[in-house]
Amino acid sequence: YILPHRHLDPNKDETFVILRGAFGLVLFDDAAEVIEANDIAAGAGPLGLVRNASVVFEGDRIVSVAGAGQIADRRIDADGACVIPGFVDSHTHLVFAGDRGDEFAARMAGRPYEADGIRVSVAATRGATEAELLALAGGRRAEARRAGITTVEIKSGYGLDAHHEARCLRVARSFTGDTTFLGAHVVPAEFEGRTDDYVHHVCTDMLSAALPYARWIDAFCEVGAFDEHQSRAVLAAGRAAGLGLRLHANQLGHGPGVQLAVEMGCASADHCTYLSDDDIAALAGSDTVATFLPATDFSTRQPYPDARRVIDAGATVALATNCNPGSSYTTSMSFCIALAVRDMRMTPEEALSAATVGGASALRRGDVGRIAPGCRADLVVLEAPSYTHFVYRPGVPLIRSVIEAGSLT
Ligand code: NIG
Repeated sequence: YILPHRHLDPNKDETFVILRGAFGLVLFDDAAEVIEANDIAAGAGPLGLVRNASVVFEGDRIVSVAGAGQIADRRIDADGACVIPGFVDSHTHLVFAGDRGDEFAARMAGRPYEADGIRVSVAATRGATEAELLALAGGRRAEARRAGITTVEIKSGYGLDAHHEARCLRVARSFTGDTTFLGAHVVPAEFEGRTDDYVHHVCTDMLSAALPYARWIDAFCEVGAFDEHQSRAVLAAGRAAGLGLRLHANQLGHGPGVQLAVEMGCASADHCTYLSDDDIAALAGSDTVATFLPATDFSTRQPYPDARRVIDAGATVALATNCNPGSSYTTSMSFCIALAVRDMRMTPEEALSAATVGGASALRRGDVGRIAPGCRADLVVLEAPSYTHFVYRPGVPLIRSVIEAGSLT
């Protein structure tokens, strides 16, 4: 989609994008829709939609969003297509070995999802070399990029001892600065029946080993994993060590997770599948983003959360893939958007916003998730005239090209 330079005819509708110099100045011209997403909670509508506009960027940064016909040395022809910000996937577990397809098949035959399955991935991950984990995670990161994801958060959580958690985070660090220490994912077999001892281990030796590679700390606050008290202890230890906070909350049933996330000032409460009115009010009155992971509810046969209630209450929401081997083995944000619109009562605009600027809010990032001057030049050209096609044409590959930090990938 990169065309050689040519002179513009001001009387003619031109349709292409331009790169200039070694580092590039790029312009999408005459895209059917160029989108600037605003925070849903900002109240001015979820998207700032610009038609027949150009995105000009230089190096890895967007310089301007301007009218059609901007001069630049090279152009990428958007050819009547829709251009969106790169997706911001704020919740993934990309570092793991092994496969749990049999567990998934059993679930489709009626078996419930149980947190215990995590131990299967822990055994496989501990048994892999660091080079193998790097290759496996790298393959998944590349798959996600092809799906339009230009920013990704990656959690540990399949090592569950100091050495293996640090190793998983080191691998994750080679793909993103948004790495999350999830030692409190589940109690490993060697600590069976000694959850408090394990929590102490997480808060001391494991945290020290993880610290050089982690930006965030997280815990799975759920029956069968860690209770409110244990989760609070993990978050407090992480905060004392200088990490940002996030929490797996209310995935498998109602519980204290969301309220705890708000109380502790977590950047994000993730899953939010079961929300009471009090949970929604707490989210709406806080800076904690409600991050929905609908591919998980799909893959575990859970009900879908009612995002409409959460948005209408005024909370900020995000959508993420939760790519992991147990509950959501997908890198498709398009699929998540389709589910969010079809089954969670979000509009296409809200779902796209949640998958871009909403994810950025969940990661406390102001530099990604929007097409705006100063933001990183992360752009996705769709094989469609509108983002509505994510839902209108479910399952169809609609990502034509991906530009990450100013480079066509
Ligand atoms: O976010 N819920 C906890 N962790 C993952 C699932 C991990 C697994 O089953 O392997 C999740 O869904």
